[in-house]
Order: sequence, then C-alpha cells, then structure tokens
Amino acid sequence: MVTNHNITLSYRELSDIEELSAEDKNLLKEAMAVAENAYAPYSGFRVGAALRLESGKTVKGVNVENAAFPSGICAERSTISASVSNYPDDKPSAIAIAAFNEEGLTDQPVTPCGNCRQVIAEEETRSNTRIKLILGGKKNIYVIESMSSLLPLQFSKKNLLTNLPSL
Ligand code: THU
Repeated sequence: MVTNHNITLSYRELSDIEELSAEDKNLLKEAMAVAENAYAPYSGFRVGAALRLESGKTVKGVNVENAAFPSGICAERSTISASVSNYPDDKPSAIAIAAFNEEGLTDQPVTPCGNCRQVIAEEETRSNTRIKLILGGKKNIYVIESMSSLLPLQFSKKNLLTNLPSL
C-alpha cells in the first residue's frame, strides 16, 4: 500500500521590525548587537543569536570560526550550549537570529543550518517546550512558531530507543 503525505510549513513574514511585539523586537535587537562579537575571519559572515528563557534572562551567542574549518560553530549552537551549560532548567521560549555580511545586515533573514535545526529541535524536546524563531533581515522578518516545523520527520532520541538491537 502506498500512502502520500504532505507537510506544510506556516510562517509569518513581517516587513518592519516595529511589527514585532516589544519583547520580540528587543530580542532581535540583542541578536543584531551581539553579532558584533562574532569571530568570523574566514567567511566574513557574522551571526548573532539571542535566546529568551522563561525566567526573562537572555543568553546570547555568535559564530566562532577556526582555521580547522569544521571546528567552527554556528551562533545558534553556541547559544544553546551556553544556555544548557548555565541555565539547564530555565526553559527557552524564543530565539532571534541576525547575520551581517560586508554590506551589513542581510537583506533576507538567515534560516538556521541543518545542524542547528537538529540541536534546537532537541532542545525543544529536552525542555518540553516550543522555541519561537525570530529571523531578522533588512527587507523582512520571519517568525516561525516552533523549530519542529522546520525539521519534519526529525531524527530523535525515539529513533535510538526503538532501533536498539535486541540483546
Ligand atoms: N552560520 C551561523 O552561525 N548560523 C547560521 O544560521 C548560518 C551560518 C555561520 C557559520 C559560519 O561561521 C558562517 O556563518 C558562514 O557559514
């Protein structure tokens, strides 16, 4: 039997940062500001991320590149690592991301790479919550209600548990 499935992705597109709520606007501004600290001598592409926690704290991170290229880390994963390391029980509720190239803030929002989608999705599972994505570009802003919608059919802990070989 063959069954066809369709998955749809819903996201909101805004044309101006002023259309965000005050707290989301502040989070995005924090992501833009911290991008200044990025260590990106190889790509020249500076990314900042700001993660809002339930307590009201904000954890920020940037991409940190390395001469051994694969050793570098994206802004999103450095932020999640900092958050889990310092506030393991404080649930994240939203992450804002902004990137700058040699011309400044990118025209279009940057969407997280596959590795970062996987890590943010597992953080949603670990914290039993949804993490809203606020992706800021010069021309528009995307708001996506949960990482799981950007990573359908994701590989997760469940796969490991159900695929364990029987001993
Ligand atoms: N990068 C991020 O930090 N986040 C993204 O969402 C996309 C890519 C970084 C990785 C690398 O340091 C540089 O941007 C160019 O890919």
